[in-house]
Amino acid sequence: MSDTKKALRLDKYLADLSVGTRTEVKQYIKRGRVTVNGQTVTSPEFKIQTGSDQVEFDQMPLSYEHFEYYMLNKPAGVVSATRDKFGKTVVDLIEDANRKDLFPVGRLDKDTEGLLLITNDGDLAHQLLSPKKHVDKVYYAKVNGCVTEEDKKAFAEGLVVDDELTAMPAKLDIIKSGEESEIYLTIKEGKFHQVKRMFEAVGKEVTYLKRMSMGSLLLDPELELGKYRKLTDEELAALRGE
Ligand code: URA
Repeated sequence: MSDTKKALRLDKYLADLSVGTRTEVKQYIKRGRVTVNGQTVTSPEFKIQTGSDQVEFDQMPLSYEHFEYYMLNKPAGVVSATRDKFGKTVVDLIEDANRKDLFPVGRLDKDTEGLLLITNDGDLAHQLLSPKKHVDKVYYAKVNGCVTEEDKKAFAEGLVVDDELTAMPAKLDIIKSGEESEIYLTIKEGKFHQVKRMFEAVGKEVTYLKRMSMGSLLLDPELELGKYRKLTDEELAALRGE
């Protein structure tokens, strides 16, 4: 699905797949631990056709995916980053990733749950995050305070949030209105703390936030918090607009 046919040096191929660092894999190759199409290859510069050559390390077949795409149901308490000095990141949760250059497409706050796409495909990430593309993001939220029809109207008109942010028109669907309200909010931007700031601007506080979708990609209801799976071919094609 996500394999792009490409010629690569054998040492880079192995390092990309996290078999070892570039220096380590050169040693492995020189010691005869790597075969290509059944033949031992001892030259790190040897060119691999990623789409067709069969590479084995210590008799274990390797599969090279140029791009990987994972849907994660992010739990609260995990940072949307590739690396964090103090705690676990969303990338650390993708335990059986082949690639070591994965990153999250956009950020969710540490206490936000839900859909996060993790990939190493920079072009797709750019398409989804570019402010010019206006990709819809749908959030479910619990809100302290009574969310009203006036809020719905204000959000639809484009809310002045604070000195820095006037939100683009957003669609507010009220599921439950009361002391604690429940809503779905569809926004086309992804400014820092955007949903929380929009509710703050109308005098309410978001107490729970979960992203349900991003463009055509819907959070799989079967995916438990902290779990992930690869995107299907259909999901990927739809995200690419194919
Ligand atoms: N808006 C927020 O306030 N937080 C998020 O994590 C995402 C959108």
